[in-house]
Amino acid sequence: MKRILDGLPYPVVAGRDAAQLVAELAGPLRHRTIVVSDRLVERRGKLVADAVRAAGCDVLGVVNIAAGERRKHLKTVTDLHTAFLHAGADRHTLVIAVGGGTLTDTVGFAAATLLRGIPWLAVATTIVGMVDAAIGGKTGIDRPEGKNLVGAFWPPVGVVADLDAVTTLPLRERRTGMAEVVKAAIVGDAELLERIALFDVKGDPQVWEPLVARAAAVKIGVVARDPLERGERKTLNLGHTFAHALEQASRYRMPHGAAVALGLRAAGILARDRTGWPHADHRRMLHALRRCGLHVHVRGLAPEAVMGAMRTDKKRVNGILRFVLPAKLGDVRYGCEVPAAAVHSALKELGTAVASGGW
Ligand code: GLY
Repeated sequence: MKRILDGLPYPVVAGRDAAQLVAELAGPLRHRTIVVSDRLVERRGKLVADAVRAAGCDVLGVVNIAAGERRKHLKTVTDLHTAFLHAGADRHTLVIAVGGGTLTDTVGFAAATLLRGIPWLAVATTIVGMVDAAIGGKTGIDRPEGKNLVGAFWPPVGVVADLDAVTTLPLRERRTGMAEVVKAAIVGDAELLERIALFDVKGDPQVWEPLVARAAAVKIGVVARDPLERGERKTLNLGHTFAHALEQASRYRMPHGAAVALGLRAAGILARDRTGWPHADHRRMLHALRRCGLHVHVRGLAPEAVMGAMRTDKKRVNGILRFVLPAKLGDVRYGCEVPAAAVHSALKELGTAVASGGW
């Protein structure tokens, strides 16, 4: 099973035999390579290393690291630089990153900054990675002040969605990954929302393939039109200003996808009086999120703590917070200025369960 997703200057391929797909991409380049994998998917990293070696690449090293939001910082990047240089990396060495979004963000940034940029290839092993993080060339790390505050646009030479990795993903990881699929549906594929509402997250890779392909296609389309986030690409941040602040306020105990689900509801609440976001669309969105097993009301975090975490958001311009808000399914606006009092009140509402007929 192999699905090629067109639209970007580099190949994006989804399939079950990821190691073979990586070998097909890397083999003809005949690069020397270094494979970096998340310890949780160490075996998949080894399969990739064996396959690229068999395809004629010289594997300089296989590095396994602990990933996750709490490891997405400068120390991990400098450790990677040390490992790459000690392995003998030069400007043509291909770094292959095998893991979820935090791993590919971090390794991609290490590649972007070593020797003023060396090539890298992303092998996504989580749903968030397959439909969002690995595609589009955003690389970066977190700062104590906030998420993704240091980074670079550094597109990979290819992206492989490792569909077989779904079989080893914990149920919670599958569920939280669906939040980005719901986001993609709101941004650019309203019909996908219906499919999500009927989707069984416990399904096998075959079941996931069309869903991953459709959500990734939305991302590819947006990134192809606006690779450097001058305009339209900002719509992919739907729900994320809230989500990043929720994650930070929870000291990263809240998984990214769980925060995105909450952020989508909060964006809908803000949009109610600003863009005319219809209640019917909001209900469809909430229904899809809940069907995936995602919570849509926040517990245990005070609105003030979340507001505090928003102070360092990247999307802030001259001290004013700008939000991405939905206007209707398939029509998402960016740059919407919202007063702090309204944000606070949306966060308060986010702390309440959705009553029938409510928001
Ligand atoms: N994750 C949002 C973007 O890549 O633009």
